[in-house]
Amino acid sequence: MSILWGREGGSVLDFPTPPKPTPLDLAPVNASLYSSLSDPQREVFDDAARFKFLMAGRRFGKTYLSIVRLLTWAMEKPGGLFYYVTATYRMAKQIAWVDLKQLTPREALATKNEGELSVELVNGARIFLKGAEDPDRLRGVSLSGCVVDEAAYVRQEAWTMVLRPALSDQRGPAWFITTPAGENWFTDALREAESGEDPEGSGFRFTTEQGGRVAGAEIEAARRTLGPDLFRQEYGAEIVDLRGAAIFRREWFSYYDPTTPQRWERLIASVDANFKEGKNSDFVGITIWGVQARSMFLLSAANQKIGFVDTLALIRSLRERWAFTELLVEDRANGSAIIDQLKREARGYSLFSCNPEGGKIARGNAAAPSYEQGRVLHPQGAPWLRQVEEQLLSLGVREDGHDDLADSVTQAVCHVYKTGPMTISTVTWGHGASDDLPEPSTTLGWSERHLAGLAGPDPDGLF
Ligand SMILES: Nc1ncnc2c1ncn2[C@@H]1O[C@H](COP(=O)(O)OP(=O)(O)OP(=O)(O)O)[C@@H](O)[C@H]1O
Ligand SMILES: [Mg+2]
Repeated sequence: MSILWGREGGSVLDFPTPPKPTPLDLAPVNASLYSSLSDPQREVFDDAARFKFLMAGRRFGKTYLSIVRLLTWAMEKPGGLFYYVTATYRMAKQIAWVDLKQLTPREALATKNEGELSVELVNGARIFLKGAEDPDRLRGVSLSGCVVDEAAYVRQEAWTMVLRPALSDQRGPAWFITTPAGENWFTDALREAESGEDPEGSGFRFTTEQGGRVAGAEIEAARRTLGPDLFRQEYGAEIVDLRGAAIFRREWFSYYDPTTPQRWERLIASVDANFKEGKNSDFVGITIWGVQARSMFLLSAANQKIGFVDTLALIRSLRERWAFTELLVEDRANGSAIIDQLKREARGYSLFSCNPEGGKIARGNAAAPSYEQGRVLHPQGAPWLRQVEEQLLSLGVREDGHDDLADSVTQAVCHVYKTGPMTISTVTWGHGASDDLPEPSTTLGWSERHLAGLAGPDPDGLF
């Protein structure tokens, strides 16, 4: 017979850690974190409501504010347990882990655990980073407080069914911070808080400009790239209905650390040069990819306004610099002439002529699932990455913007994962004499290559 026979039923709970004696007064570090906040961040921070709903534009400082709030709560509540929650565990790690480690004052830190993405402070309080993709896995704790970052992308039941009950016994606070993503449970809750219908809630809205962290010229550049609707959502923090339009979602972007040397099984250059006949020059988008174990790593990108001759010269110099083993060229407009020319000279790499049947939207739709599944990785911190990502986000949303880089990306993804309405013909296997060409590189970091001038500034300031 079980020794538990006759005992009362129950569930295994994560018992609150008993408070440890605090050797240090944390008030000064707490105050200095608070004083680092910008005026609009402080406006949210200072509000007395238990539940706060903040909708703000890109780069407002949402994640920074989330982490500062969690740290200050933790310093004020010895033994407390706090969660940072966002849509997925992968996002939590990518968005917040470095910030949490950097912002935790050294004198307040007891231990950090890379495996479970948590820090413990000297007063026994703990902060965990969590993903809400499986809300049930968040159950079973008594929480002292939580911040939900990019809340519009988090499933409602993570809040209503799991986090809210977990806060009940300590009557803990919860903050919801996000860029908007159309109408959803977050916008309902925000409006209830703003109208006073939710007596425990306060609502806030700030644009990127009001956040004060992004220069006006940058914001204007984003307006041009994103088009009016996406710009209103991402920078204006407005609720815009983009359903059925946008193909890529920001939370699908995954990142790798570009400073770690990698060994590539394949190196691919993807060229979108669809300037029309009769036009001397237009934007040419080129992306370079390393492929390894079923994942694609974006290594570099060039977006330059050049003509036919210069495009050929750029491709040749990319070959010298990167020693790519596959070259994809979109077989449309001027791409066909480029293919004809390169056919004669391709050595040491295979040249593929890619025909995007069904157009760029169809190809974007075919490439999107590979992004969603995390098989396509972008280099963390690359200065040119914003251009690539904003073009991907604009695909389908606007017709008139630049999309050369997005086309180059979706072409490469459809080629590697063999998806999509794209006919590819191998023009040449190019296994001719290649004595004059470098050996294919196996270890690359985008930064040296980038600094070597691959994506040097162009007259229009795109790169
Ligand atoms: N009060 C602050 N003091 C110093 N740096 C800050 C502050 N607020 C934000 N930052 C910095 O500004 C940058 C953008 O902040 P953060 O990542 O928090 O913005 P975000 O709104 O979460 O952006 P995204 O829309 O990309 O998620 C980061 O480098 C962050 O460290
Ligand atoms: Mg953020």
